[in-house]
Amino acid sequence: PSLMAYETIIVEIEDHVATIKLNRPDALNALNSQLLSELASALEDADGNEKVRCIILTGSSKAFAAGADIKEMSEKTFVEMFLSDFFGSESQAVCKVRKPIIAAVSGYALGGGCELAMMCDFIIAADSAKFGQPEINLGVVAGIGGTQRLTRFVGKSKSMDMHLTGRFMDAEEAERSGLVSRVVPAKSLMEEAQSAASKIAEKSMLATFAVKEAVNRAYETTLSEGLLAERRLFHSLFATEDQKEGMAAFLEKRTAQFRDR
Ligand code: HXC
Repeated sequence: PSLMAYETIIVEIEDHVATIKLNRPDALNALNSQLLSELASALEDADGNEKVRCIILTGSSKAFAAGADIKEMSEKTFVEMFLSDFFGSESQAVCKVRKPIIAAVSGYALGGGCELAMMCDFIIAADSAKFGQPEINLGVVAGIGGTQRLTRFVGKSKSMDMHLTGRFMDAEEAERSGLVSRVVPAKSLMEEAQSAASKIAEKSMLATFAVKEAVNRAYETTLSEGLLAERRLFHSLFATEDQKEGMAAFLEKRTAQFRDR
């Protein structure tokens, strides 16, 4: 495994999977500027590294991330927040990544932590996971997507409940309401995420990118525009060798060897 030097995250690349672990244990992985800029840079590296085919973003067993760093924010003025567009560019960096990102969440995913998990392509939760948007308790609201993304995941009623009361949602409720794709025992979280990532890494990157583009259209456009975008992506994949290989392999009852061509 290769290792890169960051102070607030740990990056490991092994078997085509980059695992990025948020690592500020003394602050339950609270997201400060340094962490988010290191994360943005690690994600950009992973996206550009041809050895990487899938990314896992995770935290510790106690916390994925307990939110934006309250110490760093507490004395900021409106002018400072506005001029720096606080965490705007960092969150856009996460959403720009073309390779799949799986959030593997154990423990607290609160405020910016929950928002960061929702920026990933899907969330696998440990049974210990707790999600929440408790910004209301600090006299603010979510700032990197919580009011928009949580509402799209779980609907208005639950989203309003979470944002207005600041209550936490456990893993079972999160799965039931569509926030996470699966819940697994805490001790097998990384194994499960690795196995999902390895499966993704075996596919054609062309089809993988097409899936991300197509599914994400569902949140940006009308149904008929989204359906057209999907159909054209589907058609376009017939220009690839990987489509020929994938279908030939099925017919010849063998495993496909995709080459991203
Ligand atoms: C800074 C934090 C932190 C945070 C925890 N810590 N969350 N520091 N920012 N968001 C620190 C604590 O100060 C403490 O440091 C250490 O981590 C351990 O936390 P404890 O509170 O002692 O742990 P525990 O009693 O187990 O409680 C866990 C917890 C609680 C329920 C998660 O820490 C908590 O409520 N944290 C804040 C959650 C929150 O409000 N998040 C939203 C932030 S606003 P010391 O030094 O005292 O040991 C946000 C806006 C996003 O995210 C928009 C961005 C633009």
